Amino acid sequence: MLMKGKVCVVTGAASPHGIGWATANMLAANGAQVAMLDISERVNDAARELAGIYSQSSALGLHCNIASPADCDAAAAKVMQAFNRIDALVHCAGIIRSGRHDEISSKDFDEVIAVNLTGAFNVIRSFSAPMAAQRSGSIVSVASVAAQRGGGLVGGAHYAASKGGVLSLTKSLARELGPAGVRINAVCPSLIETDFVSNAVSKDRIHELTAGIPLGRPGRPDEVAAACMFLTSDLSSYITGATLDVNGGSHIH
Ligand SMILES: NC(=O)c1ccc[n+]([C@@H]2O[C@H](COP(=O)([O-])OP(=O)(O)OC[C@H]3O[C@@H](n4cnc5c(N)ncnc54)[C@H](O)[C@@H]3O)[C@@H](O)[C@H]2O)c1
Repeated sequence: MLMKGKVCVVTGAASPHGIGWATANMLAANGAQVAMLDISERVNDAARELAGIYSQSSALGLHCNIASPADCDAAAAKVMQAFNRIDALVHCAGIIRSGRHDEISSKDFDEVIAVNLTGAFNVIRSFSAPMAAQRSGSIVSVASVAAQRGGGLVGGAHYAASKGGVLSLTKSLARELGPAGVRINAVCPSLIETDFVSNAVSKDRIHELTAGIPLGRPGRPDEVAAACMFLTSDLSSYITGATLDVNGGSHIH
């Protein structure tokens, strides 16, 4: 079991068909104890569901708004209290907003940055501290192909910019955290079949986007989860500051 004995934290894990839930599931299936964080009240039910499926693993559900540094600090303290260590963080929580630049209000722009970029910083800062203290840990942030190709698919410029910030954050923090034994990497999914996409994108647009994917289909949440698990596991022990594409070949660079 790849993750046996590891304590893993997954943000954005409450969405039933989301990448966070799929990642929590895969980590638990591979022996990890999992703490699930989400702004949705459903997070406690999700944790109970996970613990019910994998009776060998324990799961902790924590309500947390990642845009709040205090919430993130409190969540990290609760995970330490429950498990006494943190081996991995997979940061999946995020929001998507569409629209041309001249339709984006300042409020929308600020909200996307507050959740997707400041939120990533808050979560990483809170959870990397115990990792650095124990001198080991691995962090994965879910960014987006939008950051690499300049949007133009589903999210607007504010979404692409927020995810571009996550990639820069990942690279900078890999330099800072490496000497403390903490690795940090990012994954860049493209079109993945989650509620995030089905709520924001029309069926016609999904067909159009699929036509440009060499593998001929959108990705599944478990395919992103597998990349996240690889990057959190010891299989990737010499990889830090990297970006792993999970895009079916839709963006080859
Ligand atoms: N689905 C895709 O095609 C796709 C593509 C590229 C990148 N991504 C990224 O993958 C990640 C997960 O996306 P998904 O498709 O699983 O979305 P999802 O909407 O299914 O899940 C996102 C989760 O984040 C939570 N969340 C939102 N705001 C939060 C906050 N302030 N604090 C804590 N939790 C919060 C939501 O409640 C939800 O459970 C996102 O960061 C998204 O940008 C998704």
